[in-house]
Amino acid sequence: MIDLLIKRRSIRKYTDEKIEENKVEILKKAALLAPTGKNKKECEFVFVDDKEILTQLSNVKPQGGKMIEGAALAIVVVADETKSDIWIEDASIAAATIHYAAQDLELGSCWVQIRKRMFDYDADISAESLVKDILNLGEDMKVHSIISIGYPEKWRPENDVSSLDYSKIHTNKC
Ligand SMILES: Cc1cc2nc3c(=O)[nH]c(=O)nc-3n(C[C@H](O)[C@H](O)[C@H](O)COP(=O)(O)O)c2cc1C
Repeated sequence: MIDLLIKRRSIRKYTDEKIEENKVEILKKAALLAPTGKNKKECEFVFVDDKEILTQLSNVKPQGGKMIEGAALAIVVVADETKSDIWIEDASIAAATIHYAAQDLELGSCWVQIRKRMFDYDADISAESLVKDILNLGEDMKVHSIISIGYPEKWRPENDVSSLDYSKIHTNKC
């Protein structure tokens, strides 16, 4: 596990290589295996590999989402907010689980924040509202994030363990 944590970086440039079906199946399992509070299982996952839809998703916010267009796969993490009052925590755990599972499969990935992000502040158009339209999501479904995934154009240097800030770790009291 610690090796995975050290190696994981956000990868935003991908090759055109398709992701093998067995790897997509593992990503589906990983998403569904993420724990949820009170085991409510209110999160759902939209696997997008259609180029046109990937391009549409890449444009739902002005910055920080363009890499979706070049990804072989994007997994949109959504949750039914009527089923759990802690859907944000649950969706975050699922998104992180997918991100690490991708790394374990030697795929590059990046978390794209959708919740609380705007397409256009002046016109009051949220990124979430656009994703809901693109994917035909129901009214109760909240859009949390999108994980873009693909084979990396190149790997980034792994995390530097020697630079970890241990002043943020406290024992018993701060
Ligand atoms: C909650 C969260 C939201 C993020 N949103 C975005 C995003 O919208 N676009 C993006 O390019 N990267 C996004 N990232 C990736 C971070 O920018 C990245 O994890 C951070 O800069 C550290 O780099 P590393 O992942 O390579 O270690 C997000 C990461 C997290 C945890």
